[in-house]
Amino acid sequence: MRIPRRAEGTDRSTLAMTFVAAGSFSAMLHSTDHQILYGRRGTGKTHALLYLSDLIERSGDVAVYLDLRTIGSAEGMYTDSNLSPAVRGTHLLVDTLEAIHDELLVVAFEREIGDQNRLLLALDALAEASTAVEVVGEVERETKFGGSAESSVGAELTVSPNAKVSATQRSSATAESRLRRTGIEQHHVVFGPLNRALRSITSALGPARLWLLLDEWSSVPFHLQPLLADLLRRSVLPTAGITVKIAAIERRSQFSQPSLSGDYVGIEVGADAASAVSLDDFMIFDNSRSRAQEFFGQLFYNHASTRLAVMIAQPPPDADSFIEATFRRNTFPELVRAAEGIPRDAINIAALAAQHAHHEPIGLPDVRQAARDWYLRDKQTAINANEPARQMLWLLVDEVVGRRHSRTFLLDQLVSARQETINELYDARLLHVLRRGIVDRKNPGTLYDGFAIDYGCYVSLLLDGDLKSRPRDRGGWLNSPKGVPPDEFNLAREAIHLAQLE
Ligand SMILES: Nc1ncnc2c1ncn2[C@@H]1O[C@H](COP(=O)(O)OP(=O)(O)OP(=O)(O)O)[C@@H](O)[C@H]1O
Ligand SMILES: [Mg+2]
Repeated sequence: MRIPRRAEGTDRSTLAMTFVAAGSFSAMLHSTDHQILYGRRGTGKTHALLYLSDLIERSGDVAVYLDLRTIGSAEGMYTDSNLSPAVRGTHLLVDTLEAIHDELLVVAFEREIGDQNRLLLALDALAEASTAVEVVGEVERETKFGGSAESSVGAELTVSPNAKVSATQRSSATAESRLRRTGIEQHHVVFGPLNRALRSITSALGPARLWLLLDEWSSVPFHLQPLLADLLRRSVLPTAGITVKIAAIERRSQFSQPSLSGDYVGIEVGADAASAVSLDDFMIFDNSRSRAQEFFGQLFYNHASTRLAVMIAQPPPDADSFIEATFRRNTFPELVRAAEGIPRDAINIAALAAQHAHHEPIGLPDVRQAARDWYLRDKQTAINANEPARQMLWLLVDEVVGRRHSRTFLLDQLVSARQETINELYDARLLHVLRRGIVDRKNPGTLYDGFAIDYGCYVSLLLDGDLKSRPRDRGGWLNSPKGVPPDEFNLAREAIHLAQLE
């Protein structure tokens, strides 16, 4: 019960000790590529970034970790609608640069790294350059021509080629005076001498590399996110010697925005040398149950052993013996199922189950009850105000659990990507993806995603008696190591057609 639910409250050396890397995640995270780390709430983004910062410092590089929720001094200024978006954007960018500056100043004073004098000079230049950063609003212009054509045609007939040029120029001048200021206001970032300041910082730090770790990207107001991304794309990303990692919640972030001129403001994920990594997808564990159990077993053991070491004389020596001592037989796999690949949910459900179990080892009914409580307490309330999402969940539960007697189902990838409510339910951790991009051999070209309805939601139906029999799981193959559907399985027929549900 004492395992912290959020990573930011724990010191970095403890986090470095408790971190469990899923598969090749750690190696990929430690690459010098710019990356956007997507993950739903509680998937371990903060823990991963802080673990990375520990790795970085150990290898002699410089890590600057920024929690974007804590940027700036004036509370709520970025959302204050009395200020124009340009002013709010400018404040956000300047505050962010200032925070980076302050962190680097600490590095300059406290660590012996690179050339200290040059670093201090470069930091002065950064402070100076950040005052020049500005977001400017610009109204997209719409040109209205009319009436001026006659004069230019007349000029063309009578005068020499040289004169013709000046005549057309004059006509366009008259046209310009008719410009109407219409359309929406567009913003762009003026970033002045920032690049030079950043370059001198990296050269003063050399050979150490600067790693900029930005957490809680999704807490930045949605409409300001592309502006901050634009500043990064044009000043930080191209600077050699800097690596940027951003932790974000996919559905709540917007890294770029098309501008009316056909260009864009912000970072084009994938294209601008910044790739996306999904922690959610890493937690699918290639659908192998045993690897998921290994991961969560290690996770609980790591977190518990730092506390057990000071509580009891002979703490369990490894994850297996810890799990064996804490859970009754066959109970831990059920907890892993209930966690649905999300560490924070696993920790919360385990804590509730431990409450139910009192002084005994945790048993199967404890886990089921805990999963149901956690679903009712946390997950369900998250969509209470969202009527369409709630409706969609109940339609799916009716169809999948009620009619098909299953917990898993398939959706056409194109359909599910477009359906906002499906994305919202996924974001609220009420739906989970078990497998992406299942190919239909009978109908190549159509791809399916395999989903599961949240374990807690499902168990609450079982426990509260809305469900008569335990369903046989027709989608069991989704969880098998190979993930191949049985021969008689017709993907196109089995997939759920959302339009028909409604
Ligand atoms: N790979 C891991 N190894 C060990 N513990 C982990 C791991 N991933 C997450 N945890 C634990 O799970 C909990 C939630 O993690 P964390 O706070 O990093 O989530 P988050 O993705 O940052 O969530 P939020 O979006 O709400 O900020 C923490 O207690 C953290 O220590
Ligand atoms: Mg976090």
